[in-house]
Amino acid sequence: MPSAQALAALRERELHEFERTHPRSLQLAQQGAAHWQGGVPFHWMRDWPLPFPLFVRAAQGATLHDVDSRSYDDFCLGDTGAMFGHSPEPVSRALAQQAAQGLTAMLPGERTVRIGAALSERFGLPCWQMTQTATDANRSVLRLARAVTGRSEVLVFNGCYHGTVDETLVCLVGGQVRARAGLRGPPGNAAAHTRVVEFNDAAALAAALADGQVAAVLCEPALTNMGMVLPQPGFHDQLRRLTRAHGTLLIIDETHTLSAGPGGGTRRDGLEPDMLVCGKAIAGGMPCAVYGVTGAVRARIEALPDDAEHGHSGLGTTLSANLLALAALEACLTEVMTAGAFAHMEAQALRLEQGLEALLRRRALPWHVQRIGARVELGFGAAPARNGSESAAAMDPKLERTLHLYLLNRGTLLTPFHNMMLISPHTAAAAVDRALAHFESALAELPG
Ligand SMILES: Cc1ncc(COP(=O)(O)O)c(C=O)c1O
Repeated sequence: MPSAQALAALRERELHEFERTHPRSLQLAQQGAAHWQGGVPFHWMRDWPLPFPLFVRAAQGATLHDVDSRSYDDFCLGDTGAMFGHSPEPVSRALAQQAAQGLTAMLPGERTVRIGAALSERFGLPCWQMTQTATDANRSVLRLARAVTGRSEVLVFNGCYHGTVDETLVCLVGGQVRARAGLRGPPGNAAAHTRVVEFNDAAALAAALADGQVAAVLCEPALTNMGMVLPQPGFHDQLRRLTRAHGTLLIIDETHTLSAGPGGGTRRDGLEPDMLVCGKAIAGGMPCAVYGVTGAVRARIEALPDDAEHGHSGLGTTLSANLLALAALEACLTEVMTAGAFAHMEAQALRLEQGLEALLRRRALPWHVQRIGARVELGFGAAPARNGSESAAAMDPKLERTLHLYLLNRGTLLTPFHNMMLISPHTAAAAVDRALAHFESALAELPG
């Protein structure tokens, strides 16, 4: 590990370089500060390792252009929202056509029939609903799971993230379930009805489900928000067996792991969820998410007493499934998320993975690389983590931020959260090679 002092000096140099080369972004940041909290319309935009935000002029394919006329190979891709590239042509075209014919109407259009069939074919679940965000979709499926099982508890894995869903913003501290630090104004104790166990720990999972009080396990095929933690062989089989044995619904959140292939990790690995959620990139970057359920869960939902005053089931937001989102969703499902697109993404992600591994070997660095299809993650630990706690322990925020800033100054954009790199259908081999060259020079310069 580099010495703290030397790392700080390198970061200082790179910060000056960023300031020197981004005068227009600086100017806009100063002007924006008057009327936006933190100077930006959404506070996550301040999570980049930058002294002021980078202002975007345009984003096309896998390239992002800023207001200072600099361009970047974009491996962040809107933190997955633009996984299929910025403004994929079929989505832009469908949006332009629909925009002149109504944006939202609280009514379905003809294409909804086709979309339902396309979702079913892709993910293998017969019955669907739409929301605006994956957060909303997760909130909905947890509500429905509690409603149909009549149970109050839910279970998530330590280190998970499923959006700003209160009951999932929890973690394990010394074996105890706690609300995550830093939550602003939670409505109550976020941990009150949530159980948390470590990923890949089937024994702990069995114990947590044993009393038959857990409505649902909500999980990703792999943890992708605390570095990357892949499932150990057999873990998903045990998860499915245990949830079935205890009458607990299994919800798979494919929002990030859609990177695994056309039907996400569920289809690639033959998982058998009772409910499935996917958001972010599913409509090419337009606000849109979907959730699907099995025929059996559908029947249980339909058997619920219909005594909710209309619109007060606690499910939904007004703009869900608006006409524009439907247009984008259909275009993305049928013309963008193709087998050919995924083949390209997989091949270039493999190139990046192997290139990074070779680089680590050359420099004898005890780090590692993990991958789920188009999603690549560099981890600072010597071995891949087996759970959220191990993954968190291997993180080094200062090193990470310095590395990201260094890469950004040279035209390679990583997501501000851990070391995730995403490959789109538009990411060229040359962009991957440029990223590898920038990593090479970063590692050569990192002190120690
Ligand atoms: C696995 C997973 N599910 C759900 C969400 C929430 O997505 P959104 O912020 O679009 O609501 C995220 C966000 O990062 C996520 O990583």
